[in-house]
Amino acid sequence: MASAPAATSKPRVLSGMRSTGKLHLGNYVGALQNWVGMQDSYDCFFFIADWHALTTDYSDTSRVKQNSLEVMLDWLAAGLDPERSTLFIQSHVPQHAELHLLFSMITPLGWLERVPTYKEQRENIKDKDLGTYGFLGYPLLQSADILIYKADYVPVGEDQVPHVELTREVARRFNGIYPRTAEAIGPEADEAARRRVYIFPEPKPLLTPAAKLPGTDGRKMSKSYGNTILLTDPEPLVRQKLKTMVTDPARVRRHDPGNPEVCPVGDLHKIFSDKATIAKVWEGCKTAGIGCIECKGWAADALVQVLAPIQERRRKYENNPKLAWDILEAGSQKARTHAEATLRDVRQAMHMSLAWEAPARDAAGQ
Ligand code: TRP
Ligand code: SF4
Repeated sequence: MASAPAATSKPRVLSGMRSTGKLHLGNYVGALQNWVGMQDSYDCFFFIADWHALTTDYSDTSRVKQNSLEVMLDWLAAGLDPERSTLFIQSHVPQHAELHLLFSMITPLGWLERVPTYKEQRENIKDKDLGTYGFLGYPLLQSADILIYKADYVPVGEDQVPHVELTREVARRFNGIYPRTAEAIGPEADEAARRRVYIFPEPKPLLTPAAKLPGTDGRKMSKSYGNTILLTDPEPLVRQKLKTMVTDPARVRRHDPGNPEVCPVGDLHKIFSDKATIAKVWEGCKTAGIGCIECKGWAADALVQVLAPIQERRRKYENNPKLAWDILEAGSQKARTHAEATLRDVRQAMHMSLAWEAPARDAAGQ
């Protein structure tokens, strides 16, 4: 029998990112940067949710693998470290699908229909048919992703908190319906022991401090708006994108004073510039002492400084992408061991273990 994976004393963190292809600065400040900083204090599991990408992009899967690889290259470039974190790809751990299926048996439809992201996206996305079973089940697949590793914390943005809430409800329901069997708990099982050995702990969301990162058009940076600055954008492109970025609309002419608090370029300075530059921008903008072109140049300087080490690290893997793929495969192998250990418990609690069991005799001894 395969032994259970070694436990570490650090709390376990798990998070995923859909495989959308090359990542942008919004992905970096909204998630990735935070993950990189967690690697020493937590037992980290990060995965590429390629099945989740299919829930909306099922009609053309030609780029799904390439997109996963691009995400992985950006992860390694940003500083996720396979020595400290388990980096893997969802579809290479088929146990997620088995757990999702078992969860689907016990999850009331109403729980899924009332998830806010489901309702919003059904209303907002009109160019594809999202009336599919897979799309409705999106947050339940996410619950399986989380619970299969018995994660303590799930670092996510605000929008994902309802998915973690659903995960907690699913865990509770599963634990209630399928307590561990007496054999698994042992003869001494009193109520307290039974509670302790429930298969699934209830994970907590770990809110990512939300830095509002605007795209070049002033709306939230997002691939679907086409307003992104990619982690891979070379310096001239970053500078060019900044030049066309929208500014405080009140500042029409050079001598009109502006307000950096309402300017997307001001937001970029807040996130990426040093204190001295920020002071210079606030003063100069409000007094019309500086021009927007100058101000955008400084913002570009700050971005280029953040991107340079990321792009430097990426080069090594870009020249040999197989290296990144092999890291992903090794992480997936490790993830499978953990996932299968949980699945063994699950199957046993549901009386569906793969092992032979003599048929139980009925009351008449037959
Ligand atoms: N739904 C998440 C998102 O869109 C991605 C995701 C899938 C995830 N499975 C997860 C996040 C498990 C955290 C835990 O960002
Ligand atoms: Fe925005 Fe800078 Fe122009 Fe002020 S000077 S409006 S902060 S770009």
